[in-house]
Amino acid sequence: MLKVKWKASLSWEVKISGSKNAALPIIWACLLLKWKIKLKNMPKIKDVETFLDIISEIWVKYSWNKNSLSLDTTNIKNNKLDYKKIKKIRASIFLLSPILHIFGNIKIPFPWWCVIWRRPIDSHLNSLKKIWYNYKYIWDDIEISGKLKSGDKIINSSFSVSATENSIIANVVRKGQTILKNAALEPHVINLIDLLKKAWADIKINYLHEIVINWVEELRSDFSFEVVSDYIEAGTFMIIWALASKEYIDIANARISDLYTFIEKLKEAWVKVKDLWWDVLRVYKCEKIKPINIQTNIFPGFPTDLQSPFAILQTQANGMSRIHEVLFEWRLNFLVELEKMWVNLVLANPHEAIIFWPNNLRKATLTSWDLRAWMAMVIAALITEWKTKITKTEYIYRWYEDFVGKLKALWADIEDTKG
Ligand code: EPZ
Repeated sequence: MLKVKWKASLSWEVKISGSKNAALPIIWACLLLKWKIKLKNMPKIKDVETFLDIISEIWVKYSWNKNSLSLDTTNIKNNKLDYKKIKKIRASIFLLSPILHIFGNIKIPFPWWCVIWRRPIDSHLNSLKKIWYNYKYIWDDIEISGKLKSGDKIINSSFSVSATENSIIANVVRKGQTILKNAALEPHVINLIDLLKKAWADIKINYLHEIVINWVEELRSDFSFEVVSDYIEAGTFMIIWALASKEYIDIANARISDLYTFIEKLKEAWVKVKDLWWDVLRVYKCEKIKPINIQTNIFPGFPTDLQSPFAILQTQANGMSRIHEVLFEWRLNFLVELEKMWVNLVLANPHEAIIFWPNNLRKATLTSWDLRAWMAMVIAALITEWKTKITKTEYIYRWYEDFVGKLKALWADIEDTKG
């Protein structure tokens, strides 16, 4: 349980960690690279540890030196993957392409719905089918097998982030040219492409959300690569500063270019932000917040992963704000939890919510199941006069590196009682 004693007045500077959504697919893509690779700026979070646990089952050796992770894939063995561990994280979907390429078949638990939506994987399966992988459902599992064939292919990635990443990993080793149409171009997708290009892959991106992959004889390894910093974490801290800083706070590694749309929305809400120098952004405390409307979208639109933290900013706006969540139908459900703090809001339909006038957030014990909404609860706790308890803290360490430590370093009176 997390206890936030009272209203925070944060000061100083924070450094953003490596991106969770880049780190996960990158670990799997490294299975395509024969020997050693060093990944720098890797976030030390539970989901990465679980992934390392899973790949050590197939004899991938790894070691940490602070946030540098060295992987050695020289002795990969076709051992049985730990089903229970795979079942723990949805992102195990990234296993599909590298394991299929190396072992020719895989059986994983079907990644059913999660708290934010049904999250179908039809785009993944259709893309794999296009390159001669066949799949069948066996009770709660899905079994995929087949052998890659050469030839040119056009694949529809339906703007799905993980389906695009899976297709890049699957086709970078397939003979022929592959064109991914409607490809997602989120910063973590680009980071994965940069890793493979550093390994001599031939991948080009064009403005029509198209990714063109041409087969190369060999991918190299024995190099080091920097994982991109987490623009979602940076955006989350910007909202905390606007609401809970003493005066202003500087964010290093702020990924300003990736957050253009989000920062424009902050400015529209009268939050003052200033680019100090390369990727360092100063965010000022905002006393008077203007009510605005947000609509989530694929990159470079407003990130759905910042929707719930942004809703807390909207609870402090003078007037009526509207949230339109386009991608995930259940991602507004967390708002009902805010009603415990007497926030005036209406969940108009699964995609739309209206938040009314400034709310003086009341004492409450909060919880959430969606990790981004969980973070929104922490922000709400940091701006209320009352002591707030937030349960299910163990989740936060899955996606955020040393979150409580970072806030404590900024004078937040926050304590994790681990209970
Ligand atoms: C990635 O999930 C991220 N996860 C999510 O971050 C993020 O919210 C999401 O992209 C959108 O940006 C990781 O990168 C590990 P999608 P992903 O496939 O790839 C529909 C977080 O908070 N769809 O781009 O699973 C889907 O239902 C997490 O860090 C299909 O219909 O998302 C959704 O409406 C949560 N069929 C839309 O596409 C498919 O086969 C976008 O989903 C695949 C997706």
